[in-house]
Amino acid sequence: MNGLHIVSTGRALPAHSVTNDELSRHMDTSDEWISSRTGIRSRYFCDGEHGHTLAAAAAREAMGRAGVGADEIGACIVATFSPDYTVPANACLVQAELGLPEDAPAFDMNAGCTGFLYALHTMRGLLMQSKRKYGLVIGAEVISKYLTYDDRSTAVLFGDGAGAVLVTLGEYLWDCQLGVRGNREILWADEHIHMDGSAVFRFASEMVPVCVSEILARNSLTLADLRWIVPHQANRRIIEHAAKRLGAPIDLFYQNMDHYGNTSAASVPLALDELASGGLLQPGDQFVCVAFGTGLTWGSALLEW
Ligand code: UT7
Repeated sequence: MNGLHIVSTGRALPAHSVTNDELSRHMDTSDEWISSRTGIRSRYFCDGEHGHTLAAAAAREAMGRAGVGADEIGACIVATFSPDYTVPANACLVQAELGLPEDAPAFDMNAGCTGFLYALHTMRGLLMQSKRKYGLVIGAEVISKYLTYDDRSTAVLFGDGAGAVLVTLGEYLWDCQLGVRGNREILWADEHIHMDGSAVFRFASEMVPVCVSEILARNSLTLADLRWIVPHQANRRIIEHAAKRLGAPIDLFYQNMDHYGNTSAASVPLALDELASGGLLQPGDQFVCVAFGTGLTWGSALLEW
């Protein structure tokens, strides 16, 4: 009865999509460099939109698709490292925008790009203790405010947006494993993002295959049992390395960083929404979500559609 199940999905994006060519008018870079090194061709940057309004819009879409009302929501978590304010949390503002019950918890969670998986795992525990049936797990980021055209090595990689899933508990396949290795040097942010790109690249290329194979092994499954691997969308070459190490066909990995860039905690729910709305997930399909990021954090979740 206690497997976490995704009932529906939603997404919300800023109005403004920025191409690599547009970025190359502001700094010394090129579409050729960015797309060949990362697979990214464009990303959305907020221009007046707020993270919590994107989060609320994505959640509203997910609830609307399932026909679930605000009074049925038992908890709301927004995974983000880029909230609109230090306080209140984006999730509190989402509670107000959507009219979620006042006696249900709503809070933000910061586990970097792994935040959505940390939030899924946490939501399962909350729903086991809730009198209500559904939970909202949202990944929402406004990373553009931490980017500067003075640092071309990070400014080209990231994007803004929000993805949401409406979840419930039931007799569904579910497992989740999370990890952390505290490190401040490789990837951190104050008013800007600072990153040792090749160290992150090595960490991610090694960790993705480990996370996928461990969660499959402990559930006595193999790659052949999966319809999709839904990875954090940081860089196409990281996914290619991971696929090679796993011995998995590259087409098993869903990829959409070409039009979103790296949206951190929003990347996995944005991918899930594209899969769901594109009819690319059918009831019974088994899939693994896998993510890695600042912290350092990592994790994978095994679900059934
Ligand atoms: O959620 C996790 C977030 N982080 C990541 O996913 C980052 C993972 N790492 C990466 O994706 C890659 O390491 C990068 C895309 C960041 C860099 O790719 P790379 O192939 O490792 O390039 P590099 O850092 O070795 O840099 C090669 C050259 C350098 O020039 P020199 O020193 O060789 O003359 C850089 O200055 O490319 C230069 N460079 C750029 N050139 C044009 C760095 N950024 C740019 C740019 N445009 N935007």
